[in-house]
Amino acid sequence: MTERRLLLVNGPNLNLLGTRQPEIYGTTTLVQIEQLTSDAAAEHGFVVRAVHSNHEGALIDAIQLARKDCLGIIINPAAYSHTSVAIADALRAADLPVVEVHLSNIHRREEFRHHSFTSAVAEVVIAGAGPLGYRFAVDWLAERLAK
Ligand code: DQA
Repeated sequence: MTERRLLLVNGPNLNLLGTRQPEIYGTTTLVQIEQLTSDAAAEHGFVVRAVHSNHEGALIDAIQLARKDCLGIIINPAAYSHTSVAIADALRAADLPVVEVHLSNIHRREEFRHHSFTSAVAEVVIAGAGPLGYRFAVDWLAERLAK
C-alpha cells in the first residue's frame, strides 16, 4: 500500500448538513466536514477517501473496498446506525479499526436512537461533539495505527 488511506463514510441525509435541522446538526456542511477530516488526516500523513451515500448498498460497497486499500474507517452511518445489521456486518468483515461518529449525542435524543448496531463493531464511538468529532476520530486512529 503506497498511500496511508482512511475511509470516511457518511450515511443518509448527511448531504443536507448545513440546512438540515441546524439546531441539532449545526451549520457545517458535508463538504466542510470532509475537508476538515482530510486536513486532520494530512497532519498525520494519511489521505482520506470520502464517501457519502443515501443508499445502504453503496455504503456497504465502499466498506468492502476499504478492506483492500484502507487502514481504518471513520463512519457516521446516520439513521442506518439504528437499523442496519448489514452495515455492521460489512464493518466486521472489513477487519479494520472503526470509529463511529455522530454529530449529535444520540443518547440525549429519542429512544430509538439510543441503540446502534454499528457501535458494537466500532472500537470508539464519538457522539455530541459536532464536526469536531471527526477530528477526534482521525487523531485517535492515527495513534491506534502507530502502534
Ligand atoms: C446522526 C444521528 C442519527 O440518529 C441520525 O439519524 C442522523 C445523524 C448524527 O450525526 O448525529 O442522520 O448520525
